[in-house]
Amino acid sequence: MPKFPAIDEAGIAVLVDTFYQRIRADAVLGPVFENKIAADKWPTHLATMKRFWSSVMLTTGAYSGNPVGVHRSVPNLERPMFAHWLALFASTAEDLFAPEPAADLAAKAKRIAFSLELAVFHRLGAPPDGLALQQAG
Ligand code: HEM
Repeated sequence: MPKFPAIDEAGIAVLVDTFYQRIRADAVLGPVFENKIAADKWPTHLATMKRFWSSVMLTTGAYSGNPVGVHRSVPNLERPMFAHWLALFASTAEDLFAPEPAADLAAKAKRIAFSLELAVFHRLGAPPDGLALQQAG
């Protein structure tokens, strides 16, 4: 299958569908998602994530929401999962997009994952124990 040469709504839709298929099949991340998202709520989640990536990469303003609050309410979310999520996202983007847009997607995801990890897990006054993503480079 030819790769998407640039980021557009069609490519984002395929990226989101493919990424969450892989997430659901993943031994570590699958159970966390399945526990939080009921089987009949997956279409809603996928639609939200398409709006999210459209907003982030195409600045369409299609998404509004509170990702920090949402992730604070995900049971069994652990810090090392962010690096794993990111690796899966980057390899999915590479499989579907030409190198430059794939790298743009991965870079944006990394910045957001970093700030999400910080917002969800960092406690003011806690020792500077280093964020998992920072350590992963
Ligand atoms: C440790 C890795 C992650 C896990 C386990 C995780 C898990 C989840 C789950 C279970 C939901 C659905 C919550 C619900 O509808 O009740 C969700 C929503 C969402 N996630 Fe993540 N997530 C992770 C990382 C990320 C990253 C890195 C991003 C962005 C780059 C992201 C963006 C979002 C967004 C935008 C939503 C929708 C929020 C809304 O409903 O408005 N997630 N995530």
